[in-house]
Amino acid sequence: MQVTIIFGSTGGTTEEVAQAIAENLSCETQLIDIANASIDDFKNSENIILGTSTWGDGDLQDDWEDFFENLDNIDFSTKKVALFGLGDQDSYEDTFLDGMGTLYTKVKEKGASIIGDGVDSSGFDFEESTAQVDGSFVGLAIDDDNQSELSEERIKEWTKKIANSFN
Ligand SMILES: Cc1cc2nc3c(=O)[nH]c(=O)nc-3n(C[C@H](O)[C@H](O)[C@H](O)COP(=O)(O)O)c2cc1C
Repeated sequence: MQVTIIFGSTGGTTEEVAQAIAENLSCETQLIDIANASIDDFKNSENIILGTSTWGDGDLQDDWEDFFENLDNIDFSTKKVALFGLGDQDSYEDTFLDGMGTLYTKVKEKGASIIGDGVDSSGFDFEESTAQVDGSFVGLAIDDDNQSELSEERIKEWTKKIANSFN
């Protein structure tokens, strides 16, 4: 089994989380920065983890923003996709993790089987998030700005949960 982790990170925190996920997965992993990614990187992978931080007012991370329209040219219907997002619940309580919400909506529309969703949001204090569906997050939620002490455990638990769901 191989898992491709594709992340976008402006200040490096999302990249660190991507690396930690890779370390926690006991299988072959490939880490790709979306700034250097090609459409083929997606097409050649059946097991994919997508990670983004949120910038501006609920926007995707910049490099993801640049790549985003390419997602329309990728058929996700045979692929399993898990998501993770980074945000700041204190300063951006109305757009918390919206970048992850944007990726989720797109890959779902393109036919992906989403895994690693249904993440409990009760440990967070925010008003609104497009990454929250039916009361839980669509992927791993990390707030390293305010809850960095919880990140390692959150990553470990979530990664353990998704590891068996990939092909
Ligand atoms: C200018 C600015 C805008 C931000 N906007 C949001 C936002 O709308 N929603 C959110 O959840 N986090 C927001 N954040 C928080 C970042 O997503 C968070 O700091 C993240 O860890 C950055 O990860 P990165 O360095 O990997 O890009 C913002 C941060 C900055 C500095």
